[in-house]
This record gives sequence, C-alpha cells and structure tokens, in this order.
Amino acid sequence: MNAALDQMDYWDAHALLEWQIELGASDPISEAPINRFEVPKSAPKPAAKAATPPAPVETPEVDPQAEAVAAAKRADSLDALRAEMNAFAHCDLKKGARNLVFCDGDPRARVMVVGEAPGREEDRQGKPFVGRSGQLLDKMFEAIGLSRGADDPASALYITNTLPWAPPQNRDPSNEEVAMLKPFLLRHIELADPKVLVLVGNWSCHALLGKTGITKLRGNWAEVLGRPAMPMTHPAYLLRRPEFKREAWADLLEIQARLRGLS
Ligand code: URA
Repeated sequence: MNAALDQMDYWDAHALLEWQIELGASDPISEAPINRFEVPKSAPKPAAKAATPPAPVETPEVDPQAEAVAAAKRADSLDALRAEMNAFAHCDLKKGARNLVFCDGDPRARVMVVGEAPGREEDRQGKPFVGRSGQLLDKMFEAIGLSRGADDPASALYITNTLPWAPPQNRDPSNEEVAMLKPFLLRHIELADPKVLVLVGNWSCHALLGKTGITKLRGNWAEVLGRPAMPMTHPAYLLRRPEFKREAWADLLEIQARLRGLS
C-alpha cells in the first residue's frame, strides 16, 4: 500500500472517500475494464413479475448508554472493565482510534487523575498523558511526591481519561459521547477505589460533576462517588498560559495536605 495511505487514520480516510463520492466516484474499481458505451447484444429480458417484498426485519433499537451501564456493571475487576470497553461496539470514536487508552500508573495509588481524552500520541501508544502535557502533569505531581512510576502506593499515581478513545482531529466530544462513556468511567473509579480524585480540565468536571468552567471550579473540593475530588486546570492550558501555574501549585498543595490528613 502507498505509504501515505498507510499512515492515514480512519477519519482522514473517511473524509477522502466522501470527497471521491462527491466527485462522482460511486462504483468500486473492478479487475477488468468496463465499456459503458457498448450496446448490449440481446435486449434485456423483461423483468420477472415482482415478488411480494419480504416483510422488513425488525431490528431492536439499541440504547448505547444502557449497553454501557450493563457492560460496566458486569466488570468485577479492572482487567474485566478493560475487556468490556474493548468489546463495546456502540461508540464511533472507537472506530477511528488505534488503541483503547485505559490507564497508566498504579491502580493501588491513593490519587487517581482523570484527564480529558487521548491525543494522537496517546492513541498510538495506548497510554494516557504521554505527550507534552503529560510531561508537565508528571512534573506537577512529582513536585508533591507523587509519580506514576512509584513502587509504593502512597507515592503512586493512577491516571485515566474521561474518554478512552481519541476524538478525530482532537475535536471536543459531544454530550452524547460523554454520557455514553460515563458508566465506564464511574465503574473505573469504583474499581480503582482511590482516596482522592483529581479532575484535570473541563471534560472530567462535565462528566463527573455535571459542571464546566474549570477556572471557577479549580481549587474547590467537590465529591464524586463519596470521595473528595479536586478540579484543576489542564496542563495543556498551563503550557499555553503559564501565568496560571501559580494557582495550579496552590491546588497541588491542597491535594498534598488532604493526603497528609489521611495518613
Ligand atoms: N490530555 C488528556 O486529557 N489526556 C491525555 O491522555 C492526553 C492529553
């Protein structure tokens, strides 16, 4: 296959096909050329008397959110949840993604970070926060003694995202997509059972608190599934607006103080 085509992701290929259809390419290419000007040798036979069309087959309506609730409920471990999500066939984001981005870090960690969605690099590697914003996220948490590579659960970090599949062209997810995938996120939190949640960026706040407006929400403890949750500005935003790092540092100190209160 042509190298450029090989690199192309699902959504680019989809757009290219749509464009070709727009140009009139409606028939697939066949092995042998077709002479469309040739007059048929024999007159076409009169069409047989139309048979009574078969009754349309009733396909049951699928409610993707109800399917997600049922799948999430079936999962009794993180591995089982990952398998359920891999098998979930109702979300279009999955069709365009290379990998399910489930988690990174130690599920025994006291702190679970919930980001937004995988980007291109996360999609390639199947791990959350591996790009530039991930490097900043790591530095931020290392500053309060937490890291995803730590052996000890007390200094470990567990990381996931609101959406497990990268949206095409980094677009924002729709409300339907967030609602459809929320049961998996809730079950993920239940199964990992962290002491403290950190919601980075707007989407996790939208999914878990039903609110957006991270600049107002940040720094104020909220509650999710009976545990404290701290909304924070997303590291991608801090890369663009470093003047907000001072507030992010205050939020990290809040989290550290909360953890000290637990031990
Ligand atoms: N931003 C996120 O919110 N999550 C990722 O995994 C990467 C970037």
